[in-house]
Amino acid sequence: MPLSFPPEFLWGTATAAYQIEGAAQKDGRTPSIWDTFSHTPGKVLAGDTGDIAVDHYHRFRDDVAMMAELGVKAYRFSVSWSRIQPTGRGPAVQRGLDFYRALTDELLSHGITPLLTLYHWDLPQELEDAGGWPERDTAFRFAEYAGHVAEALGDRVELWTTLNEPWCSAFLGYGSGVHAPGRTDDLAALRAAHHLNLGHGLAASALRSALPARARLAISLNPAVVRAKSDDPADVDAARRIDALANRVFSDPILHGRYPEDLFADTARITDWSFVQDGDLQRIRQPLDVLGINYYTPTVVSAATDTDGPRQDGHGVSDYSPWPGADGVAFHRAPGELTAMDWPIDASGLYDLLMRYSAEAPGLPLMVTENGAAYEDKPDDAGQVHDPERIAYVRDHLAAVHRAIRAGADVRGYFLWSLLDNFEWSYGYSKRFGAVYVDYETQTRTPKSSARWYGEVARTGRLDV
Ligand code: NOJ
Repeated sequence: MPLSFPPEFLWGTATAAYQIEGAAQKDGRTPSIWDTFSHTPGKVLAGDTGDIAVDHYHRFRDDVAMMAELGVKAYRFSVSWSRIQPTGRGPAVQRGLDFYRALTDELLSHGITPLLTLYHWDLPQELEDAGGWPERDTAFRFAEYAGHVAEALGDRVELWTTLNEPWCSAFLGYGSGVHAPGRTDDLAALRAAHHLNLGHGLAASALRSALPARARLAISLNPAVVRAKSDDPADVDAARRIDALANRVFSDPILHGRYPEDLFADTARITDWSFVQDGDLQRIRQPLDVLGINYYTPTVVSAATDTDGPRQDGHGVSDYSPWPGADGVAFHRAPGELTAMDWPIDASGLYDLLMRYSAEAPGLPLMVTENGAAYEDKPDDAGQVHDPERIAYVRDHLAAVHRAIRAGADVRGYFLWSLLDNFEWSYGYSKRFGAVYVDYETQTRTPKSSARWYGEVARTGRLDV
């Protein structure tokens, strides 16, 4: 029996500016922290950078036409802050805004709903030079930038996301250092988490004042599905600590206007959190219309000191932990087959997350703003790319979404990561997440079998399981 999704369910694919655009120096764009980081030897596999990426900046019209041809109904993309405000402050650059205007016009003329993400990890380098997210001023700069983009695109974009996966920005960027700007400082990571929260709240207010009433505001979190290795109370406590550092440090202030008490206790050795100023929690807790959930794989922890190999955080290997204050928590490989990222596959994690947040935020619609898998895709002799593993991965996760909807979760859409193979951060171009294969030498796009399969699901709203 095929599963039917609600008729208004949004079927999309997702990308991010630095991962696909290229044109790093075009039309007034200046370096972001990812330009600096990727140009620093040893930071990104094979020295790959986003200088050219998949050249989407010049090929967006063809890419949009291809999406429409496949049957995709919605598209989540991010705006490069450095194209809009090259120094991270001041007036907006017209040519930068024009690019995103042209992109959204192209989407709308093909009947594709745009979902705009304001921040997908590419802070203007000048703001990092002034201290970056650990500094309070960055949150105010972000709200100013949000206002510029809202003024320019508010007439054509209805769905807005402030931040993408602030956990990665704070804890991979400033804690383990596997992401830009590559700092390894526990206090900086916690300060960054708070200022990202504050930036979200201030930007949400700026968006509300600049956008028409019909606009819908969201944030995309990547909540960890934290599972204790056993029901031993010490393992359960390890899971609680990681849940605070991965999830509640963002969702508590954003949804409920508070920080978790246990987080304060667990991180007391690092900070007294005095950087949280009076009124900040009210500024952070802004009414939202949608909660975006990104999910790939679950996290298994125990209280032991043994681990299954080098410290893994899913996005690179580092001697430094992305979990400040969680010493003595060990991370284990979850059961399940692995994708090319070595991430175990477990679709029930997505079901669990959707149920958790629909219980925690009743009345707040959810959207899966990212889900997908990397595989070692290669064209065959006929030039076709067959990726049955990706089809199976997406099918199982969509079935989990359907199960959550049946159980009462208000899930409004699903965005496959990613439309195209692209720059996978510290893994460079070595990991392919696309539904569409990209030959990086020629920039030729070849839809994989998953792209055709997904387009059909999107067109019909029916999933054969
Ligand atoms: C999370 C990020 O938002 C995206 O940029 C990344 O490529 C995917 N997950 C896969 O790691």
